[in-house]
Amino acid sequence: MNEHDSERMKRMLESLGYAEAPERADADLILFNTCSIRESADSRFIAHLGEAKRLKSEDPDRVVGVGGCWAQSVKEDVFRQFPFVDVAFGPGQVHKLAEFLTSDSLTAQGFFEFEGFTGHLPDKRARDFHAWMQISVGCNSVCSYCIVPSTRGREVSRPFGELVAEARRLAEDGVRELTLLGQNVNSYGRDLRPERASFADLLHAVDAVGGLERIRYTSPHPKDMREDVIRAHAELPSLCEHIHLPLQSGSSRVLKAMRRTYDRGRYLDRVALIREHVPDCALTTDIIVGFPGETDAEFEETLAVVEEVGYDGAFTFVFSPRRGTAAATLEGHVPHPVKIERMERLVEAVQRRARERAQRFVGRTLDVLVEGPSRNDPTRLRGRTRHNKVVNFAGLAAPGEIVDVAITAATSQTLTGEESLVSRATAA
Ligand code: 5AD
Ligand code: SF4
Repeated sequence: MNEHDSERMKRMLESLGYAEAPERADADLILFNTCSIRESADSRFIAHLGEAKRLKSEDPDRVVGVGGCWAQSVKEDVFRQFPFVDVAFGPGQVHKLAEFLTSDSLTAQGFFEFEGFTGHLPDKRARDFHAWMQISVGCNSVCSYCIVPSTRGREVSRPFGELVAEARRLAEDGVRELTLLGQNVNSYGRDLRPERASFADLLHAVDAVGGLERIRYTSPHPKDMREDVIRAHAELPSLCEHIHLPLQSGSSRVLKAMRRTYDRGRYLDRVALIREHVPDCALTTDIIVGFPGETDAEFEETLAVVEEVGYDGAFTFVFSPRRGTAAATLEGHVPHPVKIERMERLVEAVQRRARERAQRFVGRTLDVLVEGPSRNDPTRLRGRTRHNKVVNFAGLAAPGEIVDVAITAATSQTLTGEESLVSRATAA
């Protein structure tokens, strides 16, 4: 979501006549888009602000702007703590940046309201063939560790027709892969009036848009993962065989303290339903270790879910107390060395299972959407399968093409293969 917000900011600045400066020291405007999900993001940002302060003191005409979740979480305090900042705005107020920059304002200004989806800004896509489409703003969940509800506000769904029209426009513009974005995508549409719509309805409507070869979404909440959405993966040709289903913890006691509103049994039941309808579906997840009060036995329950599900990949996080959240004041702080040890064991299990799971692709020929040259070896290509696995392969295709690749090897993270030139000859 944050990356997509950055794309929108870049595009907005371009429409005002700004262009990216070759060197930081050359910039007239220094703009930060901040994340506050964990403390490490905050500390990195504070270090960068130090550089901005120095650049501003060298040339006081420079404008320093701070947008995003960190700005929203401290609001006007940003000007007290960092008096050299000229403009600050939350993730819901990106459009106000343009107002500020065109207003000749001499005083520092902050914009922190929640207005739902604002500013239909054209986005600047990092890749021509891939686009993000934000389907909702905010989050109505109250996960006890999470700062997002306080930085992005209550959930507001964008109108159904508007989203279908946007998907159509993107497809006409050459987009082949579309990722639907929201804090909790599968609760989409419940707030729409006069007619409610469901997330599954939206998937069906976007699938019907011609030209979009691949549809993805992130992130769904297990509590709202209904059968209609799971079935859509089996029914809709463009909906990819990959679901990112955040687990957070495998212990029902910890899940309750996290206020996730599902327990281990209900989560595993969702996984079983996915496997029943889409047997080959890739599953990835988010997991937090060291939540306050997490015992060794409860951590073992998380490991057991990882072993049982066999994720194709996982993002793993050490619990980080966030200001204003319920979990920040809970008793039962887990000592740092214990957190680290748990993390190491978790990563080992995730990677071992992912490597085992990835072997099912070896010997198969998969559709790969080409992204460009491989990062380690520019004579090879890099692309992604529908399962969202990165493939490095020998081939001749151009970025944006979808080609057949014969998979010859697999690690936990990436696949290796060769473009099938038979299909290329036939296509030609
Ligand atoms: N500490 C650690 N991880 C967190 N996440 C969200 N808040 C925290 C926190 N306070 C993780 C969750 C979420 C992902 C985006 O970030 O796993 O799914
Ligand atoms: Fe945070 Fe929970 Fe909302 Fe996700 S669902 S953004 S973890 S509060």
